[in-house]
Amino acid sequence: MRKPILAGNWKMNKTPVEAVNFVLELEPFVAGFADVESIVCPPFVALPGVAAALKGSSLGVGAQNLHWAESGAYTGEVSAPMLKGWVDYVIIGHSERRQYFAETDESVNKKLKAALQHGLKPIVCVGEDLGQNEAGVTDAFVNAQVKAAFEGVSAEQARGVVVAYEPIWAIGTGKNATPEVANRVGGEVVRGAISELYGDDVAQEVRVQYGGSTNEKNIGELMAMPDIDGALVGGASLKAAVFAEMVRVTAEIY
Ligand code: PGA
Repeated sequence: MRKPILAGNWKMNKTPVEAVNFVLELEPFVAGFADVESIVCPPFVALPGVAAALKGSSLGVGAQNLHWAESGAYTGEVSAPMLKGWVDYVIIGHSERRQYFAETDESVNKKLKAALQHGLKPIVCVGEDLGQNEAGVTDAFVNAQVKAAFEGVSAEQARGVVVAYEPIWAIGTGKNATPEVANRVGGEVVRGAISELYGDDVAQEVRVQYGGSTNEKNIGELMAMPDIDGALVGGASLKAAVFAEMVRVTAEIY
């Protein structure tokens, strides 16, 4: 049985002080739901404060990005060894990074390998845009994204990776994939690609999140789907009461 995992992707929101105040408010709500893994992913500068505030708590911390090199002349970048100690998780290849910061399947693959090498747990994002969706190429595109991301990753390492299926047309738009569609792509396509690479045993262990306009109202029907093991939550994770309610609903379903 895969443990459900809800991760809040705060994106470029909240100052370090706001971030600490927020997690102090959120933590008591989610601490009681040990059967759900709950994670917040604040901006880099808020990570030390948030990690300190959550020391010993079951509420986990993740980063939103990393660089693949350990150190060097990469102005403005942050590496896995720098994140180690502050975070357990790291989001890799979010569609906004791919769209606005020219991330490619190749950079996503390098980042995934760097995260694994340094013991960070990756959340790798894949998903098609509206044009691809309408052209009916979602399955082929997502399959190729998953395979490119995992290139050179061992089966043992792959088991611990979380994959977030986030159709780009559903992110921040209020539109979401129906639970059936999310489940089909998450299962047949994402888990299917992992099965092609590593076999069904590994594919059954990898957790697949859905992301895109999830909230406290639709999380229940999504989490009821057999191949959806969690959510990568954007806007709805910025309100403590809303994110806490999503965790509560998830705990009730599992
Ligand atoms: P959203 O964002 O929930 O605001 O649509 C999801 C994401 O980008 O991970």
